[in-house]
Amino acid sequence: MCGITGYIGAREAVSTALNNLKRLEYRGYDSAGIAYLSSQGLEVVRAEGRIVNLEKLLSQVPAQASAAIAHTRWATHGRPCETNAHPHTDCKKRLAVVHNGIIENYVELRQQLLAQGHVFASETDTETLAHLIEANLPSTTASQKEIARAIRAALSRVRGSYAIAVICTDTPQALYVARQDSPLIIGLGHEEKLIASDITALLQHTRHMVPLEDGDFAVITPQRVIITDRQGSVQERAVLHVDWDDQAAEKGGYAHFMLKEIHEGPRTVQDTLRGRLAKEERIAFPGLSLTPQDLQRFERIAIVGCGTAYHAGAVGKRWLEQWLRRPVEISVASEFRYSDPIVGPDTLVILISQSGETADTLAAMREAKARGATTLAIVNVIGSTLAREADAVILTQAGPEIGVASTKAYLAQLVVLALLGLFLAQLESPGGLPPHLQTLVSALPEMPQLLERCLQQEEAIKALARKLVSSKSFFYLGRGLDYATALEAALKLKEISYLHAEAYPAGEMKHGPLALIEPGVAVIGISTQSLTREKMESNLKEVKARQGTVVVVEPEGVVSDGADERIVLPSAPDYLMPILAIAPLQLLAYYIARERGCDIDQPRNLAKSVTVE
Ligand code: F6R
Repeated sequence: MCGITGYIGAREAVSTALNNLKRLEYRGYDSAGIAYLSSQGLEVVRAEGRIVNLEKLLSQVPAQASAAIAHTRWATHGRPCETNAHPHTDCKKRLAVVHNGIIENYVELRQQLLAQGHVFASETDTETLAHLIEANLPSTTASQKEIARAIRAALSRVRGSYAIAVICTDTPQALYVARQDSPLIIGLGHEEKLIASDITALLQHTRHMVPLEDGDFAVITPQRVIITDRQGSVQERAVLHVDWDDQAAEKGGYAHFMLKEIHEGPRTVQDTLRGRLAKEERIAFPGLSLTPQDLQRFERIAIVGCGTAYHAGAVGKRWLEQWLRRPVEISVASEFRYSDPIVGPDTLVILISQSGETADTLAAMREAKARGATTLAIVNVIGSTLAREADAVILTQAGPEIGVASTKAYLAQLVVLALLGLFLAQLESPGGLPPHLQTLVSALPEMPQLLERCLQQEEAIKALARKLVSSKSFFYLGRGLDYATALEAALKLKEISYLHAEAYPAGEMKHGPLALIEPGVAVIGISTQSLTREKMESNLKEVKARQGTVVVVEPEGVVSDGADERIVLPSAPDYLMPILAIAPLQLLAYYIARERGCDIDQPRNLAKSVTVE
């Protein structure tokens, strides 16, 4: 959903900003651009397509600058082309703006500015901002204060969401930034400052970061950062220390981030369990701001998320319901918000998000809070909006996830949900968990090693991908927990391979979709649950009888009759099988997409952090 970055300090600003921008490419790759202040004044270089195109252009114009702002675009208003690429400038090229978000009233503002004689070069909403700021600047050289005032005045007329960065030829030693409903982080270095849409882009420079809050505006020089609110009153913001491994944001020899991140699954599970499983086999959430009393008073639980996070929630719903014997509702965040949801002071709303910046999930959280519910965020990115605004937070410890298709973050979400479910069950059984749940607590530490075994089948899965790649359509079938896994496995395949893939509850096939089964249709049956194994076997036979290709995913020691291919999982308690079953299916999606020559880390039309509704 667009990434912005900027640099001010003693280093060469253009190459520094460009390197940071590369780490934000997952946020959009329709076009990229950079603006910098050189001895010649304001320079703007932009290119359609990926950042590599911008890099090529920049290599032809050796740039020397101490301040730069840069942007990678996921098109919302205006088609993807060079003219619509950011940065945008005012008529006189006195200032440049990069923006992540949407200016909702830009048509009206643009008309007013056109009437005042402003000339527009693009179709974007962002250019309106550049002209609005220009309209508020004095005609003579402006001071930092005057520029700050002009930007605040412009923003006061804007409706919508934004994270913006501005540079102006009048003050080469300053960057100006503001945030409303789109993320923006300031990185603090010695005699240098950086800004970016997320912390990963800044990790190579600093661990000290300040996430801005909605309504914040900042004037940044190499020496200092002054944050004010919309009215200009100075605001104190906490400095966050980020201990993520910078290497995790590099491919480290893998062909794609997605493959690397799949292989980081076992470590992610280990890191997410760490500190939460005490020696005496009790679960603890140190630092959780909800007390056991708080957690026990809720009568209702609702889980909300989008995409992969929602699918983790679908597993979590079943776990919590079974383990607590209480109804748990699950909603897609974009539906929850407008559904007049039945939540109130007796409800715990669990919001799941890797980025912590997904607009739909944030809106759902705010809706739940407005109705008096308590919100608990399960989130990967420390300092993200969701992590800051929710009443309580559990971090998933997956480290930076760069591939657009979420893999290790999903595993971490599952692990947190399992821990949370067992923790809540523990609170309800002060005398000790019932044996069937205690078995799960004992089995959790073995998950990393079992996952490692799942990944050892990589060569076999690669060969299976070659066999399946020419299928015209894919069905992923399962029952209960396996259906939740099917949802996530189908999403993985469709988003990176552009093949049609659909998840269905296996028992529902005969009520309609069975009509679609014919030669050339691949059906992946996930069958890890002993309760439904026989039913699954019958459902897969129904597919086989219609000449679909059947692949069954099942634990070792079980051999379903009639499947064409098998993916074998290590055995573990049925409840925990979703943590194992997804790994080979992530690999399968990856290798099918690779066979098809798709752009795996940056699939078409998608971006990782979806900050628009
Ligand atoms: C799919 C994927 C998306 C995200 C969804 C929510 O692989 O990554 O479906 O899961 O956009 O994003 P977060 O978790 O950042 O809220």
